[in-house]
Parts: sequence; structure tokens; C-alpha cells
Amino acid sequence: MPDQAKRVVRPFLSADELDCIVSKLAESITRDFRGKVSCEDPLLLVGVLKGAVVFLSDLARAVRLPVAFDFIAVSSYGASTSSSGIVRILKDLDESIEGRRVIIVEDIIDTGLTLRYLQNHLQERKPEELRICALLDKPDRRKVDVEVDYIGKEVPNKFLVGYGLDLNENYRSLPYLGIIGEKQQPKGG
Ligand code: IMP
Ligand code: MG
Repeated sequence: MPDQAKRVVRPFLSADELDCIVSKLAESITRDFRGKVSCEDPLLLVGVLKGAVVFLSDLARAVRLPVAFDFIAVSSYGASTSSSGIVRILKDLDESIEGRRVIIVEDIIDTGLTLRYLQNHLQERKPEELRICALLDKPDRRKVDVEVDYIGKEVPNKFLVGYGLDLNENYRSLPYLGIIGEKQQPKGG
């Protein structure tokens, strides 16, 4: 990974393209859960902190059903960008999900280790229904199988930032999605 001064972010998906992807996901979720949830028993969106926060806030507003939010924080990465494979809960859910209809909302599936762990772990808490929605999927990097119900877009094996995704806590607030690359060095001398 190039150092900060030599880094550039190349646009990959614009805010409009992201909006379109999120709308389609929200339509599928609305269709699948219509009649199954209510204000008394809303659909629970469980955002995986911190990367999914921006996506969850847009998705929640596009789903035309009563929704509630909760958040979980896990750690499988250090300051480097490669997966250690170790998943640890840093912040657990605030409420019980027993008997609830739940969707885990994740920014990107890389190795699949985080989601497989979360799926198994939350399933033990006996939700009525547990589904997974991920904005982005990097299938080339998969180490373990995980069944994902809603996927926004397959992406190449590049390091992506923006729209919630970070590199060492930078770039999360970019309204578009970019690929981290190296600045071209000026030619000649
Ligand atoms: P997994 O357990 O390897 O699937 O890890 C998924 C997590 O890794 C995501 O929730 C992100 O936090 C992080 N991640 C994976 N790929 C990227 C990327 O390209 N940019 C930023 N974060 C990423
Ligand atoms: Mg994440």
C-alpha cells in the first residue's frame, strides 16, 4: 500500500450509481418483508460497525416498511488491509433478537469470515428470520462459503474506500466509492 502522500483515490462508483444499487436492494427487501413486519414488530437492520453505517442509513430510508436499527462491532483486521481471520465482538447488540426478523447489513464481503461468524453467532439467539444484505462483494477473495441474500454489486479484488469504507479510518465520508492507487510519477527529469 503506497504511503499517504503517494496515494490517490480513483472514482469507481458515483453517488448516483450507489443510489441506484441501494434502491434496488431496498425494493427487494420491501417485497420480501411486506406483510411480515409492523410498527409493533419492525424489521431489525443490524449494521456492522463502522463500514456499514453510511449504507445502512440510505438503505433504511429506501425500504418502505417499519424498520429498527441495532449495531454490532467486530474486528478481524488490524491496521493492515489483509484479513487476519480472527473475529472478535467489540460491541454487541443492545437488544435481544429472539423472535425478530433481522437483516445483517454489511458494507463488503471479502474473505467471508466476518459474515460467517456473525451469521452463526446471531442464529444461536433464535431470530424468527435472519438474512444478510451486503452492498459489495469481492468473490475472488472468498475463504469460506456464506449465503448472502442481497448483494448490491460484485467488485474486483481492489482496495475500495468511501461511502463508509475506510483505509485506517480515512475516506469513510467520501460520497462515492473509489479505488486506492498510486499517484503517477511525472515522466522525464
Ligand atoms: P471479511 O471477513 O474478510 O469478509 O471482511 C469484511 C470486512 O473487511 C468488511 O466489513 C470491511 O470492513 C473490510 N474490507 C474488506 N475489503 C475492503 C475494502 O476493499 N475496503 C475497505 N474495507 C474492506
Ligand atoms: Mg466491515
